[in-house]
Amino acid sequence: MINQNQNQEQNLNQEIKKTEKILLKGVSKYYRTEGEKVLALNNINLCIYEGDFIGIMGPSGAGKSTLLLIIATIERPSFGELYIDSIPTSDMLDSDLQLIRLNKIGMVFQDYYLISSLSALENVLLPLEISNKFNNPVKRAKELLKMVGIKENRFNDNINKFSGGEKQRISIARALTNDPDIIIADEPTANLDTKNSKIIMDIFTNINQHLKKTIIIATHDPKVLAFTEKIYFINDGKIST
Ligand SMILES: Nc1ncnc2c1ncn2[C@@H]1O[C@H](COP(=O)(O)OP(=O)(O)O)[C@@H](O)[C@H]1O
Ligand SMILES: [Mg+2]
Repeated sequence: MINQNQNQEQNLNQEIKKTEKILLKGVSKYYRTEGEKVLALNNINLCIYEGDFIGIMGPSGAGKSTLLLIIATIERPSFGELYIDSIPTSDMLDSDLQLIRLNKIGMVFQDYYLISSLSALENVLLPLEISNKFNNPVKRAKELLKMVGIKENRFNDNINKFSGGEKQRISIARALTNDPDIIIADEPTANLDTKNSKIIMDIFTNINQHLKKTIIIATHDPKVLAFTEKIYFINDGKIST
């Protein structure tokens, strides 16, 4: 009996030790288009802890991208509050939010958003040139490209020479360049076949387990969810577990 109580207490302590990374309190988001008002998010309450690996699932138009854009501080809530590292963001200036995005958040998109006139290495270097966070940015960028499985003899190849799966790996390297705590990925495997989707999800798993990054992935793809630890379902802007 005593042992059981001790165990319960230990579990409770472990729960308490989890650090809140992202907190949404009563977040709603309206978009206005030509007089029409669309409610994209409807009173979202969501807490994401440090080191979580979260999947957000829901049909097209459910509000997944809007939710990610708000967590990434790219869009602001119409109502409610977003906290990052327990700090409320609604009163922050755009320039403060820009710094949060640069230092704390890495983004991965379905369409990669890589710059097609640049090489793989130059694409990964871009965020480092803005932040000046590493003394040897080229070394850092090369390490990240290696980590996502791009061979050294291809670092200087133009982005157009890479396959979709490789482009997504390069975009993950770019998302990691400034060593952010949070990685946000919007349908990262939607353009990829099963084999490449698995490679991408293995990389995210590795980043979560070994680099201890908090990862949030929105997806249509049920196979992706097998990799995540916790899944939230979203429909008509409302969330459920
Ligand atoms: N920039 C925008 N302007 C107007 N309406 C938008 C905008 N972005 C999204 N919406 C609308 O908000 C709702 C949620 O969209 P979105 O967050 O993109 O969903 P999902 O990513 O799940 O497909 C949809 O009705 C969509 O049409
Ligand atoms: Mg979307």
